[in-house]
Amino acid sequence: MSKEKTNFGNKLAQGFTKGVLNITVPLLNHRIVPFRWQAIGGIVTHKKLENSVLIHCENGFIEVKIITPSIWRVRAFHDTLPKYHKSWASREPDFNLKIKTVQEYGSLTIKEDKNVSSKNDLIIKVSEVDSTITFERINGDILHKDSEPISMSKRGSWIKTKKIALKKEYHVGFGEKTGKLIKNGRKMIFWNTDQTAYTVREDPLYQSEPLQISLREDGTAFGIFYDNYRYSVIKLEKTSTSKVNYYTEKGPLCYYVFAGPTLKDVSKQIGELNGKLPLPPKWVLGHHQSRWSYYPEEKVREVARNFREKEIPCDSIHLDIDYMDGFRCFTWNKERFPNPQKMVADLRDDGFKLIIMTDPGLKADPEWTIYQNCVAKDYHCKLANGNPYLGKVWPGKCIFPDFTSPAVRVWWGKLYKDYVELGIEGFWIDMAEPSIFDIRRTAPFEVQHNMDGQPESHQYAHNVYGNAFAIATREGLDVLRKNKRTFIFGRTAYSGIQRYASTWTGDNYSTWKHLQQSIPMVLSMGLSGQPFVAVDIGGFTFDCKAELLTRWYQTGIFYPFCRNHSANATKPQEPWVFGEETEKIIKKTIEFRYMLLPYLYTILWEASKDGLPMMRPLFMEFPTDKETYNEKWHNSQFMVGDKLLIAPVLTKLGKNQKAVTKKIYLPEGRWFDYWTQEYLSGGKEITREVTINQLPLFVKAGSTLPIGPIVPFVEKASEHPITLAIYPDNEIQGLAYFDDGDTKEFEEGNYNLLTIRGNDTPKKLSIDILQSGKITDLPLTNEILHLRVHTKKTPDEIKVNDNIAQKDFETENLSWKISDDMKHYTIVIKIPKFPMDIQVKYK
Ligand code: GLC
Repeated sequence: MSKEKTNFGNKLAQGFTKGVLNITVPLLNHRIVPFRWQAIGGIVTHKKLENSVLIHCENGFIEVKIITPSIWRVRAFHDTLPKYHKSWASREPDFNLKIKTVQEYGSLTIKEDKNVSSKNDLIIKVSEVDSTITFERINGDILHKDSEPISMSKRGSWIKTKKIALKKEYHVGFGEKTGKLIKNGRKMIFWNTDQTAYTVREDPLYQSEPLQISLREDGTAFGIFYDNYRYSVIKLEKTSTSKVNYYTEKGPLCYYVFAGPTLKDVSKQIGELNGKLPLPPKWVLGHHQSRWSYYPEEKVREVARNFREKEIPCDSIHLDIDYMDGFRCFTWNKERFPNPQKMVADLRDDGFKLIIMTDPGLKADPEWTIYQNCVAKDYHCKLANGNPYLGKVWPGKCIFPDFTSPAVRVWWGKLYKDYVELGIEGFWIDMAEPSIFDIRRTAPFEVQHNMDGQPESHQYAHNVYGNAFAIATREGLDVLRKNKRTFIFGRTAYSGIQRYASTWTGDNYSTWKHLQQSIPMVLSMGLSGQPFVAVDIGGFTFDCKAELLTRWYQTGIFYPFCRNHSANATKPQEPWVFGEETEKIIKKTIEFRYMLLPYLYTILWEASKDGLPMMRPLFMEFPTDKETYNEKWHNSQFMVGDKLLIAPVLTKLGKNQKAVTKKIYLPEGRWFDYWTQEYLSGGKEITREVTINQLPLFVKAGSTLPIGPIVPFVEKASEHPITLAIYPDNEIQGLAYFDDGDTKEFEEGNYNLLTIRGNDTPKKLSIDILQSGKITDLPLTNEILHLRVHTKKTPDEIKVNDNIAQKDFETENLSWKISDDMKHYTIVIKIPKFPMDIQVKYK
C-alpha cells in the first residue's frame, strides 16, 4: 500500500484553505466578460424550412425551430450555420411539426402551422429592425422579450442575450446553486468546480445547469434552457420586471423555451427535452451509510452488524477511495479487503448492497495494466503539444481518459466487469469536474478533448467531462448488468445528467446553515431535471453533533436519496454514536422513511416517467397560492410528491429550551396533521412547539398514501401486506405503483399500478380502485390489502364489491375494525379483486 496522504486535513494542506480557495478559484478560472460587443443587426432576409426558419441578419444568423408545440429552440451564430452542433444535454424529440411565418408590423412572426390553435401556443416575433425576439402566448401574454439584440463580442467568441419580463417574476432552477430557492438578483457562474467544503455563498459548485424557470403569482410559468456547456454567466437583475442577462464564452447561442403554462408543465417539458432518470432499483430508496472511508473489511462488517443489531434500517454501505490499492480504480487493497467476493456476498445475504467509488484519474503507474492499456490505446487526454496530460489527484500523478470520445467510453464501461461479477450493485463516481490538486483545481485550458469527433480544448469542453464520465459508466454497466437496473451517482454534472447518474451536493459542512441550505438546493436541482438527489446527512466537513444529526435526519429522510456521509478527519456520525437517546430518535426517523417506501417508490416511478421531482417546492403544488412565493416558507418547507408537506426544524434549541416554536404555512386546501389526525384548514399560518423527537408533517386532505411495514431493508417489504391510508376530503385520489424493484421488466408492462379515486360526504365514502399493468398480485403478497380511513366517523355498513365487511372478524375474508384511539378504521381485504368498489355508510 502506498503512503499517499488521504485525509481531509492533508487535502487542505495542499493549499486549499478556505481563504486561498475563495481567492484562487475566481482568479484562475474566472473570465472577464467582454466590454465591446456587436449587435446581430436587423433582418436582411429569411428562409422558411419545414419546422424552422433561418434568419439572415446584418451580422449573423438566427434560427428558430419548433421542437414540440411547447418547446421551441433559438440559435444564433456569428457566421454561417455550423454543420454540427452537438448538445450534451438535450435530445430533441422529433414531432415532425410545421411552422408558418408572416411578415407584419415590422416583425417576422413565427408560429406552428396548424388549423386549431390552443390558448397556450407560442408565437415568436423577430423584429425586422434589430432582430430582438419576443415570445408570447396566442392570447398576447408576453413571456419575455429581448431587452437588447443578441450580440457577439468584438474580440473572442462570446455571445450574449438579454431578456426582460413584463410582469413580476420569480426565477428558479439553475441546478446546484447555493442560496435561496428564488434567485432574483443573483449572478451565477456555470463552470464545474470542486469547491472542497463550500460555504453557503459559494458559486460555482460542481454542476452547471443553465436552466431558468420563471414563475408568476397567477400560477403560470415558463422556462429557458441555455444549452451551452461552455463557461457561462446568468445575471438576474432585481428589478420588478426582472431582467435576465446570459453570456457564454463561446457561441453559438442556443436556448430552448418551455411554454409551461404551469411549473409542472415546465418540469415535464424539461424531462421531454433533456431526458429522465431511468427508474433505479427500489433498494436505493433505503437508508445509505457512507464514510470516507470504511476499512478494513472488519470495519465494514461492524457497521453492518450495528445496523442489524440495533434494528436501524439500512440498505447500503458505501466504500470510499480507501478500498482501492493505492487509489487505483478497479483494484482492491488486499490487506484491507482480502476477500471482497465473500464480503459482498455476506453483506448481500444480510440485506446490504455495497456501493463502490471510482474516479476518473488513473494512477500514472507504468506497472499497472489499466494505465498501460489506456496509454497503449491512446485514450488519455493530451496537452496541445500531444504529450499526455498528467494531473495530481488522490493517487498522485494521474492520466485522465478522454470520456468525450465514444471509443474511450466503451473501453471504460467494460472495466466494471469484475465489480459486476463480484455482485456490486451501486456505483459512486466522483471528482469528474475533473478535480485536480493544483492551483487551478482542474485541467489546464489547453488539454484536448475528442468531443465525439468535434475536438475542443478543455477551456470549452470542461463542463461536459463529468457527463461523459457518467455516460461511459452507465452504458458499460447497462451492458454488463443486462436486464438489471443499475444505480450510479456522481457529483459533477451538466444538464441532462439524470439520464446517466443521480447526484449529490458534494462536500458540505456539519452546520445548521448547511442543513437549511440543503432544502433550496435539492429543490432547485429537482426543478432542473434531477429528481433523485442526496445531501450528505450530518454534513461532510467538521464534526457533527447529536442535535444537528437528529434534525438533519428529520429532513434527510425526505431527500430523494437518503445518505449519511462524512469526511475522514471528522468524528464518526453513524446514527448510534451520540448515545441511546439520539439513536432512538434517529432510528424512529429512519423507520418512518421505510414505512413510506411504497409512496416514495410511486413518486420515484412518476419522476422517471414524466420528469417531476420527488421533493417539490410549495409553489409547484399550489401555484395560485401567493403565499407560497414568500421566502419565509419555501426555503424551509417542502412537499414530497403532491401529498406530504414537511416543515422540519432547522435551528438549534436555545439553552434550557425544550421545544422550537415553528411557524408553518399550510397552503390553500385542507390538511391532516399526520401525528394528531387533526383536520386543518389551509391558506394560513400555524404554530407548533416542536421537541427534539418531533417532526411537523401534514397530509393533504383527499390523499391516498400507500404505506408499508417497517423492515430492516427494502427487499423485506415485499413479504408484508400493503396499506392504503386514506385521508378523506370531497375528492380523494392517489396512486400506488409496484414492480419487481430490480429488473427492467416493468418496461414491458410488468408492473402493478393501483389508481384510487373517491369522494367523501358526511354520510358516505365511496372509493374505486382500478388496476393496470400485467402484474396483478405482486404488492399483495399474503394477498392482503388494508384500507385505513382516517376519520372519527363510525361506519354503519361497509361493502367491498357488494360484499358486506364483518366488524372485528379478522378471520373473515373481509372485515373492518376501529382503532383504539378511534381516529381511524381499517378495512382488511384478503385476496382483493380489482376493479374494487368500496362503499361506506356512516351513522
Ligand atoms: C470528495 C468527495 C467526498 C469523498 C472524498 C474522498 O471530496 O466529494 O464525498 O468522500 O472525495 O473520496
